[in-house]
Amino acid sequence: MSRGNPNPTRPTVTLHMVSSLDGIIAKKDNSVSWLNDSGEVYEKGVSISEEEAAAFVKAIDCYVLGSRTYEHALQLGWPYGDTPTVVTTNRMLPSTKKSVQFYSGDLKRLVDEILAPRYRNIWLVGGAMLCQRFLRLGLVDEIRLSIVPVLLGDGLRLFDSSVPEERWHLKNVVAYKTGIVELLYGSQPTSSKP
Ligand SMILES: NC(=O)c1ccc[n+]([C@@H]2O[C@H](COP(=O)([O-])OP(=O)(O)OC[C@H]3O[C@@H](n4cnc5c(N)ncnc54)[C@H](OP(=O)(O)O)[C@@H]3O)[C@@H](O)[C@H]2O)c1
Repeated sequence: MSRGNPNPTRPTVTLHMVSSLDGIIAKKDNSVSWLNDSGEVYEKGVSISEEEAAAFVKAIDCYVLGSRTYEHALQLGWPYGDTPTVVTTNRMLPSTKKSVQFYSGDLKRLVDEILAPRYRNIWLVGGAMLCQRFLRLGLVDEIRLSIVPVLLGDGLRLFDSSVPEERWHLKNVVAYKTGIVELLYGSQPTSSKP
């Protein structure tokens, strides 16, 4: 399963992020037009139907996000549906959705004691600060990066110098007609998984 943990009840924590070619996940002004489809078509790429996308998303049991990502998601339009969502914050934020729970404190405890008994497929969806904290604590099993073919130069970087040196193992690559490339890495070689 994950991180060599023989416990089959441990869930998989997948860090998912959309990044520019130069590793930026948000512009300074928080504008998101860089995420838009350019209209160009990469002929050798694949596309997925709405049904396939919906089935994929349905398999996600729980989302975890930092408070800044939460606030931005509320502004842009909530993308997580009714799937249980944990928002980490030390503030008293207004509760806007039944599916949202707030959490403050030890992130290892969050994963091991609160999420693991309930969920199998946990998606950590940002932002940079929360992802870096999860990586420092060794709580990420998979990294799924969707690379948008754009250089942004300046902005919020997904990985900073606090991220520990670690070898990750390529599990899958998908190139889409839109020019987006999705890279999936695991914390262990695929061959060593049970
Ligand atoms: N491109 C993408 O795929 C993508 C995905 C997600 C987000 N984003 C963008 O990334 C930006 C936000 O990222 P960010 O790095 O600035 O912030 P963030 O990671 O979303 O949120 C950071 C906040 O999480 C809370 N937090 C973290 N660890 C905690 C803990 N152990 N206990 C309690 N609270 C904890 C703190 O909230 P309090 O300050 O409330 O205490 C902290 O300020 C936004 O612009 C968003 O749109 C992009």
